[in-house]
Amino acid sequence: MNSAITTICIGLVLILITSVECLSGPINIIPRPQSLEPGIGNFQLKSTTTITTDSDLLDLANQLNTILEPSTGFRLTTSTNITNKPHTNCIYLHLTHDSFDNDEAYRLQITKNLVDITAKTPAGILYGLQSLRQLLPPEIDSAKPVNNVNWEIPAVTINDSPRFKWRGLHLDVSRHMFPVSFIKQYIDIMARYKLNTFHFHLTDDQGWRIEIKRYPELTTISSNRSSTPIPSDRDRSDNTPYGGYYSQQEIKDIVAYAADRFITIIPEIEMPGHSIATLAAFPELGCIGGPYKVRTSWGVEPEVFCGGNDKTFEFLENVLDEIITLFPSKIIHIGGDECPKDRWKQCPKCQQRIRDNQLGDEHGLQSYFITRIEKYLNSKDRSIIGWDEILEGGLAPNAMVMSWRGTQGGIDAARSGHYVVMSPTSYCYFDYYQSENHATEPPAIGGLVTLEKVYSYDPVPAELSDQQKKYILGVQANLWTEYIPTPKQAQYMAYPRALALAEVAWTNPQNKSLPDFMQTLNNELKRFDILKINYRKVQK
Ligand code: ACM
Ligand code: ZN
Repeated sequence: MNSAITTICIGLVLILITSVECLSGPINIIPRPQSLEPGIGNFQLKSTTTITTDSDLLDLANQLNTILEPSTGFRLTTSTNITNKPHTNCIYLHLTHDSFDNDEAYRLQITKNLVDITAKTPAGILYGLQSLRQLLPPEIDSAKPVNNVNWEIPAVTINDSPRFKWRGLHLDVSRHMFPVSFIKQYIDIMARYKLNTFHFHLTDDQGWRIEIKRYPELTTISSNRSSTPIPSDRDRSDNTPYGGYYSQQEIKDIVAYAADRFITIIPEIEMPGHSIATLAAFPELGCIGGPYKVRTSWGVEPEVFCGGNDKTFEFLENVLDEIITLFPSKIIHIGGDECPKDRWKQCPKCQQRIRDNQLGDEHGLQSYFITRIEKYLNSKDRSIIGWDEILEGGLAPNAMVMSWRGTQGGIDAARSGHYVVMSPTSYCYFDYYQSENHATEPPAIGGLVTLEKVYSYDPVPAELSDQQKKYILGVQANLWTEYIPTPKQAQYMAYPRALALAEVAWTNPQNKSLPDFMQTLNNELKRFDILKINYRKVQK
């Protein structure tokens, strides 16, 4: 009897020890999944591992092979025969239409035998694959074969879905332009961290950057400036011409690249302000008729589109016609920020428009301008988003607001039943310094937005009611490039802050933890080294 009990006890202890020994290793995923339960043991990725997939996920199975093959040397055999659920040595991708509330949710279950990813949509499957990638050793991201790495994936069950629908990152290509290869890599890194909205700031005072077939002057004249301020001394000029634009072919290529990663590109065409580059080619669209030059200093430009001239609207509608054929996004960004009203105050046409339409003042004219463009885009089945200045003088009836000068614009818009993307300078401006010690940082526009500050942001203002909170569609960080002349520096400013933003955008507050994030980030940044992507080193 005694010896039987002893045997059972020893057996139990052995089972316990074995289980503890076989508990999977650390689970390093950014953004942190909503629910994660470590399992026992590891899945071993081998050259004989297969992929079994729904036929409409074949593209994603190919994307998985594209991730795995360069470093492992394995090209996994892919089968669409899913009549029997596979049992062993298999990565199984399949759609389950009914068991998820959220279109981007996914379940990733890894056991010793099987990696099972299920979701309601292909986007959810991609997010499952991104989590899977992060569970593999960082060397998986090597572009060349890596020997002596055990391609083990820890057993785990993850049930995950995003907190917000709009998880955005912006890039200004007007002040400085970046090669298509850089834009694609920027999009690729967004997709890794489950960001889904790329705000492409294509036009501004210092340069127009997209080919519009109807108006070739936009690329022969508006995309070129005669000089640029020197980053370390904003009052001095480099006396060097600067220019460039993306052809429509390049734009289509970028849009398709983003679509493969379930990223929507929101193009921004600035109006009524930030438009002197356009006026340089079309002076009749400005209040004083020119002459105008593409701006060569930073800051806010007083020359803006004339709101009293119907030709302005005709021109913008023609431009938008081409924009909406290039960008499938339902939402188009029309700028709306920083439009000084001095010229409108003096302009007979603008004043006439104010009188004829009983707009009251120049803020009323700004509202008229945005509402007229909104009406046009609504007639094409698109809607608009604009910076929070579009609230001034009255918000266009269906407009969404991007709150950047703090959160009040977002609060006001949500209270009046308009959708909002939060992007306040104090948490979301990645052109701001990352440290108080400017001596050790490259010149930046000013301000201070540390990694920790980004991480601490909660985009839902406490002062909103539960009903109003539903209008907070999401969060976005902005990378303005006045002080960012090179891709390397753009990466330095974007990373790792974009990873903190991704966790703000995806993970519910109760599942966030700064110490856990910092630890996971350490592991994640090894991938940036492997990918040769620049980033700001995290200070210990
Ligand atoms: C902005 O930063 N002017 C939107
Ligand atoms: Zn005018």
